[in-house]
Amino acid sequence: MSQVTILVGTQWGDEGKGKWCDIFAKDADLVARFQGGNNAGHTLFVEGKKIVLHQIPSGIFHKDKKFALGPGVVLNPSQLLKEIDSVESIRGKIEPDCLLLSDKAHVITPWHIYQDGLAEEKSPVGTTKRGIGPTYSEKSSRLGLRLYDYADSKRRHEWIKNRCAFDKGFASHIENHKDEWQDFHNSAARIKDYVCHADHLVRNGIYQGDKVLLEGAQGALLDIDHGTFPYVTSSSTTVGGAIASIGFDPRKVNKIWGIGKAYLTRVGDGPFPTELKDEVGSLMGRKGKEFGATTQRPRRCGWYDAVAMSFTSKVNGLDGLLLNKLDILSDFPRLKIAMAYHHPHYGEIKDFPANPQDLSQCVPVYYECEGWQGSLDHCKSRDDLPKQARHYLSMIEEFSQTPIHAVGTGPGRDDIIMFE
Ligand code: IMP
Repeated sequence: MSQVTILVGTQWGDEGKGKWCDIFAKDADLVARFQGGNNAGHTLFVEGKKIVLHQIPSGIFHKDKKFALGPGVVLNPSQLLKEIDSVESIRGKIEPDCLLLSDKAHVITPWHIYQDGLAEEKSPVGTTKRGIGPTYSEKSSRLGLRLYDYADSKRRHEWIKNRCAFDKGFASHIENHKDEWQDFHNSAARIKDYVCHADHLVRNGIYQGDKVLLEGAQGALLDIDHGTFPYVTSSSTTVGGAIASIGFDPRKVNKIWGIGKAYLTRVGDGPFPTELKDEVGSLMGRKGKEFGATTQRPRRCGWYDAVAMSFTSKVNGLDGLLLNKLDILSDFPRLKIAMAYHHPHYGEIKDFPANPQDLSQCVPVYYECEGWQGSLDHCKSRDDLPKQARHYLSMIEEFSQTPIHAVGTGPGRDDIIMFE
């Protein structure tokens, strides 16, 4: 019996996937990240120490598991080593057979980071400037550097030599940023120990019946194909990305959970129909501590958007939603859910528009309901929740056509209510 569970973000990222990854990792044999790079960020508090993980799956503190970064990931070597160091300072040595880095994953170089900065100056998307887009671009144009080649000193230097031969800008970047490139080379020796045929190992585990958890980064609305292009990240953040990255029989997937928040946030540019630019939005941001873990940018906040959420639910084939931060909405007198959009040319629509021009002209048609007062700390089941909260959740389920499987009622691992 295969037991592959996939966790994906249903919004514009920052839904709290790390918390659920940590919870589900407890019952898994192996946890694998399938896309993205150090643009993601998850803040953990372990033994009183604050740790921000960007690339390592957040279940890493479960010592008896294996963790992998799949072929669809892009990886910043020196940043990854810093993360390994901070995790090791708490949990002890991460043995190479515990952290499996796919030899097929692509490497972010100082050049890619520089290119990301240049692109942002020319036509801003609001990226994290971590070199993610340029690295994925070079992967697609077959110019990129795979981890397999990076880990081997001879092949790494050959790759650099070839690039310098046809790209003068690349050559002068090396000349002018010697320290960054030195750091890049120095990191290879240590990273090498972790590089392996990770996809084979994950796949074999799946076929042998291991419990495997596949963890996405960012969210469906940032997906390169299905998101609000061009204000998206450069990888497939949806379930299709998990299958493509690891490469396995999709019929082995047992459960697909979509992570969301009880309201929406977005960092970076791009349309956001339910955005609140008023005091209500600022209050959500303050209560929810909505600042990016990677860039510290304040997140834009807005009402729950069931038009977008029913779309991302279908794109992912969700079994259900895990809805975080319900507690942040406590004490709001009224709550709203977008159940349709009004577009000046197309009238009322319920299908999430494909292009940003159409989306930016959409005005949400809201369902309004009463909020609830007071903390949710005492609530241990759906029935314990205030009747207004139960009603709010039922309407989300109805409008987004997706059952809610659990809610988060606080930042801690135990601040959750499972509904089944
Ligand atoms: P990039 O992934 O750095 O290229 O950025 C592209 C877009 O995705 C920008 O709008 C970023 O703010 C957004 N983005 C990337 N990673 C995350 C994340 O982990 N959470 C939220 N937004 C993200």
